[in-house]
Amino acid sequence: MATSPYAVAQPEGLSNRNFTRLAEVINDTSGIKMPISKKTMIEGRLRRRVAALELPDLNAYCDYLFDSSDFEAELIHLINVATTNKTDFFREPAHFEFMTRTALPALAEAGQRKVKIWSAAASIGAEAYTLAMVMEEFRRGGPGLDYSILATDICTEVLAQGTSGRFPKAMIDPVPIDLRRRYILQSRDPAADEVRIAPALRTKVAFARLNLIDKTYPVGSDMDFIFCRNILIYFDKPTQERVLSRLCDHLRPGGYLVLGHSESAVGVDLPVVAVVNTIFQKV
Ligand SMILES: C[S@@+](CC[C@H](N)C(=O)[O-])C[C@H]1O[C@@H](n2cnc3c(N)ncnc32)[C@H](O)[C@@H]1O
Repeated sequence: MATSPYAVAQPEGLSNRNFTRLAEVINDTSGIKMPISKKTMIEGRLRRRVAALELPDLNAYCDYLFDSSDFEAELIHLINVATTNKTDFFREPAHFEFMTRTALPALAEAGQRKVKIWSAAASIGAEAYTLAMVMEEFRRGGPGLDYSILATDICTEVLAQGTSGRFPKAMIDPVPIDLRRRYILQSRDPAADEVRIAPALRTKVAFARLNLIDKTYPVGSDMDFIFCRNILIYFDKPTQERVLSRLCDHLRPGGYLVLGHSESAVGVDLPVVAVVNTIFQKV
């Protein structure tokens, strides 16, 4: 078949050897699986970094990374590129309903004064700020439960956005109207496409970089809730089991581990019992 004279030149892709080198270092560092089916995705995402560094192409990026005297610093950028950060406010709302209807009333009834929550793959913080709204609403409803929320992620770009507390307007669609009025600030500029989380909530959420495949986590072992949602699916089974086991070490007895809708701790030897689908309680 004749080649069209109008065919658009394709930018050069990664050689298979270079993709394999990147995939290995991404997997070793973050636990994220990088099969060959992800090659086009990684190429697309890496192009912005290649342009920022003014490198000629993706293969030159590999030389730059692996020959760099500051490999560790560039690795942070590569991991940022490899992570998928999709998230939403009030994502999987049954988890927040369980907190409001079951778990928090039980804690208040037992006389607990403060609740410690960890959002362990927080992305830009939509989950953590949702939790802050849930806690504030529970406080409004009666018993005085103070709270703190730790939001961690491996990706430095999402942590910076979470810390800023600024989100595109469209992201707050799932937030109920009355909560928007109480906890989300609109810009004075009607043309601005951005909203801000109210300072009262922002002071309750601390963001930090934490890699879930590290052997230890510099986090207290008395968490009441650990949300680790929509991240285990990116890890292989042995990594999932190690992460789950370490997370359980950071729950107090009676504390809850909350996973994403397509994730499970069933069949893994953990000190938890299933409470409802995807919510587990430490024994
Ligand atoms: C799909 S988002 C899920 C966000 C949120 N938990 C939710 O369910 O909406 C997964 C997050 O896990 C983070 N992540 C990937 N590997 C990680 C690791 N090894 N340690 C900590 N966070 C990681 C990614 O950067 C990304 O922000």
